[in-house]
Amino acid sequence: MLTCPLCTAPLSALDNGVGCPAGHRFDRARQGYLNLLPVQHKNSRDPGDNQAMVEARRDFLNAGHYAPVARRLAELAAERAPGRWLDIGCGEGYYTAQIAEALPEADGYALDISREAVKRACKRSPALTWLVASMARVPLADASCQFIASVFSPLDWQEARRLLSPGGGLMRVGPTRGHLMELRQKLYDEVRDYADDKHLALVPADMVHAHGETLEFRLSLSLPADRANLLAMTPHGWRASAERRTAVIEQAEPLEVTVSMRYDYFVLQD
Ligand SMILES: C[S@@+](CC[C@H](N)C(=O)[O-])C[C@H]1O[C@@H](n2cnc3c(N)ncnc32)[C@H](O)[C@@H]1O
Repeated sequence: MLTCPLCTAPLSALDNGVGCPAGHRFDRARQGYLNLLPVQHKNSRDPGDNQAMVEARRDFLNAGHYAPVARRLAELAAERAPGRWLDIGCGEGYYTAQIAEALPEADGYALDISREAVKRACKRSPALTWLVASMARVPLADASCQFIASVFSPLDWQEARRLLSPGGGLMRVGPTRGHLMELRQKLYDEVRDYADDKHLALVPADMVHAHGETLEFRLSLSLPADRANLLAMTPHGWRASAERRTAVIEQAEPLEVTVSMRYDYFVLQD
């Protein structure tokens, strides 16, 4: 199912890597992932999330604070029972691994442009195919996936559509306008409101919104390390002032905060 990121020809397995008939060759890293991001497709030396962001997200997610979000995503994936699926912008693989557990028979792929993320992610589920790759040029064949997950991640909708087989669908998980509201109120004098349905305008015309739901729950973060990780894994880690961030991390009482996610599922029409 893999295609060459340089010429789009099918890739086949070689010793310790993959290659295409034109002679383009890509090695498998020691950790097990394939690097299918050629240097000419990078717009910086180390694109995507850096090590500090990846580790903050890993530690926060491993502590179980967003476990209900992952559980619900895994249930929704299992209901759709795809033969082949892909997590686009998988980060350090927390959600990917739970989808994989819910779909033990399926052929799973996951990609991220950040090598730091994929390097860690591939340890979670060695049976999946892990790729360092760009979501703008996904090295997978047309119509090869029945289910795509996009969690808290940017998305190239046209490219995702190309990957779906008719009747397959894409599950997007993202924050609602109320997500982390109490934290935002502590960090900013004026909390910026945003439309949490802006992505709907980007959906290709032949992809139908087949399901939508919201999941909301309260978190109580009593450890300063958890509060620091939450800040470091979100834009608030650089957008908010250093004084306000320190105050949140060092506050004596737990941080009570609302987690609020929307799940939108779009099906490619037959
Ligand atoms: C907010 S993180 C979400 C990670 C993961 N889905 C999660 O929720 O834990 C967004 C991810 O998108 C990745 N990303 C950004 N631009 C990308 C691109 N063009 N292609 C692939 N991944 C990209 C980043 O490296 C980062 O890991």
